[in-house]
Amino acid sequence: MNTTIKKRLMRTVILCAIAMAIGVGAAYTELKSRHDNMPPPVAGVSVGGPFALTDHTGKDVTQEAYAGQYKLIYFGFTYCPAICPTELQKITKVLNILGDEGDDIQPLFITIDPERDTVDTMRGYVSLFHPRLIGLTGNRAQIDKVLANYRVFAQKVEDPENNDYTMDHSSFIYLMSPDDTLISIYRIQDDADYIAADIAKKL
Ligand code: NI
Repeated sequence: MNTTIKKRLMRTVILCAIAMAIGVGAAYTELKSRHDNMPPPVAGVSVGGPFALTDHTGKDVTQEAYAGQYKLIYFGFTYCPAICPTELQKITKVLNILGDEGDDIQPLFITIDPERDTVDTMRGYVSLFHPRLIGLTGNRAQIDKVLANYRVFAQKVEDPENNDYTMDHSSFIYLMSPDDTLISIYRIQDDADYIAADIAKKL
């Protein structure tokens, strides 16, 4: 191979690498901004409240079903390509790090997309994560109420390429006390080690 061709090839390889890095970066930024565009609720603002939903086994439940337990609550949707599964894996990791200490914590995944996240869909989805994870769905009014109470931002966005829709939504993990008051809110950038250490301090 002569030097000119080598140089040209090298240049192409470098340009491709740069293009890929920019592409990945842009996609990540877009995803992150979609999930990250709401500030966490301010301290002192009341978050949470009573709800009536249906769990992934088809049982109707209210907040009373988890009374007396700490709760780690995440709001998302099963069609989410990246952030929701990552955050649910993070909750699994947090509980694994906490070990016995985490036994009193009930992880809950509440859908923001009840039209697609039926009981059957939720049952299959939660089985991918922590064995104690409970998935909650409901009708539109029930979900809207819990989203409002937890100050969750969630909005359908048409996706013409797929002839379907996706969801823009805020992404926070809520640590609730056994009497349903907000203890902490964790963000996408808080990793499992940080969250586990913070929870251990607060239990
Ligand atoms: Ni998501």
